[in-house]
Amino acid sequence: MKLLEGKTALITGAARGIGKSIAIRFAQEGCNIAFTDLVIDENAQATVKEIEALGVKVKGYASNAANFEDAHQVTNEIVKDFGRIDILVNNAGITRDGLMLRMDEKQWDMVINVNLKSAFNFIHALTPVMMKQKAGSIINMSSVVGVHGNAGQANYSASKAGMIGLAKSISKELGSRGIRANAIAPGFIATEMTHQLSEEVRAEWAKQIPLRRAGTPEDVANAALFLASDLSSYVTGQVIQVDGGMNT
Ligand SMILES: NC(=O)c1ccc[n+]([C@@H]2O[C@H](COP(=O)([O-])OP(=O)(O)OC[C@H]3O[C@@H](n4cnc5c(N)ncnc54)[C@H](O)[C@@H]3O)[C@@H](O)[C@H]2O)c1
Repeated sequence: MKLLEGKTALITGAARGIGKSIAIRFAQEGCNIAFTDLVIDENAQATVKEIEALGVKVKGYASNAANFEDAHQVTNEIVKDFGRIDILVNNAGITRDGLMLRMDEKQWDMVINVNLKSAFNFIHALTPVMMKQKAGSIINMSSVVGVHGNAGQANYSASKAGMIGLAKSISKELGSRGIRANAIAPGFIATEMTHQLSEEVRAEWAKQIPLRRAGTPEDVANAALFLASDLSSYVTGQVIQVDGGMNT
């Protein structure tokens, strides 16, 4: 029996990177996949095809996770298309790094809205659905810098710390309704997001990792599978660091 047979997951920002890996890992376990991204372009369609080949139902939706109305609208559409949503992965995220002295309001607002408000938007839209089902697993994508902080990433770290507080609060609020909420705090994972950094910075990060390698999106997807499935049925309000031992 596959771990997520017959379930449906909504994953935000999953056209590529960690979100895409989570979608594929869940689909390998029999999960139907509804994912969002800013645009459903050729790249996103290729993701759809890749998931389809695993024999599950899949659809990509163009939706800005930072927008409250968009999130509610797309959630309603997905419930209509799939009949239910068992798993929510709040994965969409961006960086707009800069030291505080040079950080402008736009940089702050964008990162908080895309990384943190988006999770509120989807949890808010899905709470009635999951309450009706009397079951659900919510996973917020945080970061090790949300736990430990990072110079030059005050906006990003604050948003990712917020993802932890949000998951912990929801776990207390909705636990009695059969809904679990946890966070994953990845360390340095090789995706397009981290490729924006210079080679020098990437090498510096790698030196700090006890397991001496960057993580892969699949490393994060395996932790997400644990939290999404009944393997973690007594786990809620937790943060799993997937960071090769860095910062622990
Ligand atoms: N890569 C890392 O080292 C790392 C470490 C810790 C946490 N994370 C977190 O993991 C998540 C995924 O990161 P990634 O490395 O795969 O990044 P990525 O940039 O490769 O992918 C992010 C995806 O989110 C989408 N997206 C951006 N803004 C959106 C919006 N407003 N609405 C909908 N979709 C949107 C992008 O189009 C993209 O497809 C993010 O939340 C990121 O902060 C990444």
